Amino acid sequence: MTDAASRVVELRELLRHHNWRYYVLDDPEITDAEYDALMQELIALEEAHPELYDPHSPSKRVGGAVSAGFEPVLHAIPMLSLANMFDEGSLRAFDARIKRATGLDKIQYVAEPKIDGLAISLTYEGGRLAVGATRGDGERGEDVTHNLRTIRSIPLVLPDGAPHVITVRGEVYMRKPEFERLNHERASRGEPLFANPRNAAAGSLRQLDPRVTASRNLDVFFYYLPDAEAYGIETHWDALEFIRSLGFRVNREITLCDGIEEAFEFIHRVAELRPALPYEIDGVVVKVNRLNLQRDLGLTSHSPRWASAYKYPAKQARTRVRDIVVQVGRTGVLTPTAVFEPVDVGGVTVSRASLHNEDYVRAKDVRVGDVVMIQRAGDVIPEVVRVVTEERTGEEREFEMPRTCPACGSEVLREAGEAATRCISLSCPARLREGLIHFASKGAMDIEGLGPSTIDKLLDAGLIRDVADIYSLTAYDLIGLEGIREKSAAKLVAAIERSKSNGLQQVVFALGIPLVGITLSKLLAESLGSMDAIMRASYDDLLEIPTVGPEIADSVVSFFSLEMNVETVRRLAAAGVRMSAEPAEARPAAAEFDGKTFVFTGTLTSLTRQKAEKAVESLGGRASSSVSGKTDYVVAGENAGSKLARARELGVAVLTEPDFAEMLKQAGYELGDDGGE
Ligand code: IVH
Repeated sequence: MTDAASRVVELRELLRHHNWRYYVLDDPEITDAEYDALMQELIALEEAHPELYDPHSPSKRVGGAVSAGFEPVLHAIPMLSLANMFDEGSLRAFDARIKRATGLDKIQYVAEPKIDGLAISLTYEGGRLAVGATRGDGERGEDVTHNLRTIRSIPLVLPDGAPHVITVRGEVYMRKPEFERLNHERASRGEPLFANPRNAAAGSLRQLDPRVTASRNLDVFFYYLPDAEAYGIETHWDALEFIRSLGFRVNREITLCDGIEEAFEFIHRVAELRPALPYEIDGVVVKVNRLNLQRDLGLTSHSPRWASAYKYPAKQARTRVRDIVVQVGRTGVLTPTAVFEPVDVGGVTVSRASLHNEDYVRAKDVRVGDVVMIQRAGDVIPEVVRVVTEERTGEEREFEMPRTCPACGSEVLREAGEAATRCISLSCPARLREGLIHFASKGAMDIEGLGPSTIDKLLDAGLIRDVADIYSLTAYDLIGLEGIREKSAAKLVAAIERSKSNGLQQVVFALGIPLVGITLSKLLAESLGSMDAIMRASYDDLLEIPTVGPEIADSVVSFFSLEMNVETVRRLAAAGVRMSAEPAEARPAAAEFDGKTFVFTGTLTSLTRQKAEKAVESLGGRASSSVSGKTDYVVAGENAGSKLARARELGVAVLTEPDFAEMLKQAGYELGDDGGE
């Protein structure tokens, strides 16, 4: 083997190991920086030696190709569902049936949290992931291999000595914080929210573009090895141990229980633990441990007799609808919202729930004055389950969607085929306020100090009518506002000034074009290079860009077909806001470094990372190795990987190496003769 070939093998091994430590065990042995360095080295070698190509290399997680649809996959062993039990009595009856059928007086069970996600089946051939499929109808699922490959806790390659062919099953899910983040982002784009993490996980996995799946940070727990006896295994517990040893992520809470009483203890313990778990569960699965007993007990038409799902009671409550109010979002969508008499639902006080749109209100037939049952869907977002119609008095009032916007009084519109009713006036104050908040927010123009309360003051004082007005504000204007002193006014003006040199993608995102979020803004900025090109792009031009579909293309074209929006962009440009991917003339000065946190990722070409970090520190900034919400800038060199992705996800400003060099120059920092490498 050549040196390069053996180093590539070694790097792949190392990266697989560290991947497993990080994503499966949650216990990394090396820093992100060290991991990135190994990954960069591998990518560089693979690029230099195309003959070493391997689709299973850790560098190849994210496939680029968009599939036209999902191929059907026949499950050699059907994927069964489980019988649900809703009370202790049914679970005792389950235990009694098993004791009777086996003639034993105590059964060993394995008790597992029932993860609220979607079931998948992975088949490995020759130690490599060959097919990953959804459950489908149990007999036939969908081939989602490309998407599953993007999930870091799924091994692409198994260790030496793994069976030649092996199928394992588990649950893909979305962690609660990731779910919140995703919905937050969707809300800011005026997109429909996912009702719960399970829907979000399913929606993220069934994506034609694996990059979308990759951006959703899904996770997986494995809980079943069909046909384990074929590997000489005798119990389910040992099967879990075996797959864990092959690198599959197995839930740590899973417990071996001697008899059904211990399973009840587990159920009670996990119920207590449930709110603190970072993932949603909807119950506990109880499985007979011994595989020979499982075999003897057999199956019914769609579920095994040896396992059952104990479901926790849904967190529901009864309350009364005081009112149905209509809120106007940033994109002008009118959302009817039920206002309740506040009520405790599983430890959280709930006083409102979205009724989404006119059709939803009709379908649920929710009226003002109704008694309703509500629950927190997926334990998070409150929703109306049903109206207690038996308790109607006849006094209830039906909801009617207003014909005019509650915020600005102009006429609203509901287009044929759309569920949403919208206010289409661009000068609508509800849209303006939300639009301004979005414009100044992190990920968009990131103007520190320009939050909702300052925006309200500016609106009240009549100082802004449009986002571009932000750039005409002077310290003098601000000092006149309640609670704003000279110092904070000066700071805000400086922050506004700094935002002019934000990347083009931030400006695009800040405009709040419906359906255009952070990722897409970046894509538009990168593919088209300037705001001008984005504004001029035709529907067909836009469709040429990968991942841009008809709806997005339509949205972008309609946005810029409105003269007012074009005018806003023109005014932003006139104010000096960067409108091309190239750095603008005005660059930030030393203040830009003071107290700021920088993270470097990828390979820097014009200086070493140590030098870059030293420069930041000498200008009063801080260099860190991991990206978080507190990071101010990520400087992305060549082949930047996971940190760059994380930065984009968090909306942290991303600088190219030339951007950074320019910033140093503006701050008067001399790299000196030894600066270049
Ligand atoms: S065992 C034959 N274990 O629940 C064994 N399922 O209601 C079948 N699920 O389709 C599955 N956590 O999607 C099993 N620890 C767990 C589980 C689990 C979640 C899901 C899975 C299954 C559904 C059945």
